[in-house]
Amino acid sequence: MSKKILISGVKPTGTVHIGNYFGAMKQFADFQDKYESYVFIADLHALTSVQDREQMSESILNVALDYLGIGLDPEKVVLFKQSDVPEVTELAWTFNCLTTMPYLMRAHAFKDAEAKNKEINVGVFDYPILMAADILIHDADVVPVGQDQKQHIEYARDTAEKFNRIFGDTFKLPESLILENVATVIGTDGRKMSKSYGNIIPLFATHEEIKKAVMGIVTDSSSGVPENVYNLHKLFRSEEELKNLYEEKKGKYKDLKEALIEDMESFISPMRERREKFAKDKDYVIKLLSENGAKMRAKISSKMEDVRRKIGIKID
Ligand code: AMP
Ligand code: TRP
Repeated sequence: MSKKILISGVKPTGTVHIGNYFGAMKQFADFQDKYESYVFIADLHALTSVQDREQMSESILNVALDYLGIGLDPEKVVLFKQSDVPEVTELAWTFNCLTTMPYLMRAHAFKDAEAKNKEINVGVFDYPILMAADILIHDADVVPVGQDQKQHIEYARDTAEKFNRIFGDTFKLPESLILENVATVIGTDGRKMSKSYGNIIPLFATHEEIKKAVMGIVTDSSSGVPENVYNLHKLFRSEEELKNLYEEKKGKYKDLKEALIEDMESFISPMRERREKFAKDKDYVIKLLSENGAKMRAKISSKMEDVRRKIGIKID
């Protein structure tokens, strides 16, 4: 039996952090043998917020290196750039025409942006539909993501159902793959770890950066167990192992933070080294992305021909 298809992506919007890793990226690596895997750099989604040529190009390369650094094997996983398959935007337009405004207005991300009174661009509003196209164009079965993306996968399912209902069976309904204990990784201040909150621990942090971030963890516990330290620590060690340590060092926040720094360092350093090796050969990375982009584009072409035929714009 052929393998099921896994697809996911990360936006090139800044430094990848351990929330991205445990919430989603680790699953890309852990499942690379189990699924036929396609992992991309969501550059068109990033354009909703990154509107600077150099920053965009640099961040794209960084996410590619991050993928290689966490151990995605380019022989097993097809790493590519979203924009190298421009048909996703065509498919997104097709879906747009089946999607109502009130339905998109219910999206959490849009509502959050609106609550912040931001000048919201159409890309932010339409974000779930482009994401639906990313997923459905590849007939994906599973989409590993963090909790904050769950609703987007539901939008993809709804969109597939709607298209199938109107034009006949075409798209597979994808499932999200969200691991319960890491669905929302908490940052150094106890809120969700997020690039926009300034509470991250970079996934490829240097030793100094790890130290700085861990020393900055907010410790306001009354129970003797510094909750924010513990919550991060349990990503790196089993709760069984931590039990003794946290009992022994009860109230000694500095010692506990030092233990966390040590555990993070031994976890991060091999990935950091692997990433650095690839970073020395940027030409290889750029070539890999471009070849894979062409491959993916060829791969989806019959799917798009089917879509065009189904909606009636392909008449030959
Ligand atoms: P992004 O950087 O927004 O493209 O996110 C990449 C992936 O990381 C997505 O699947 C997110 O759901 C996931 N993610 C981001 N922040 C967290 C977090 N704090 N905890 C768990 N997963 C997260
Ligand atoms: N929206 C996702 C995020 O912010 C990135 C993304 C874009 C994605 N398209 C996708 C993830 C398709 C999974 C599948 O993290």
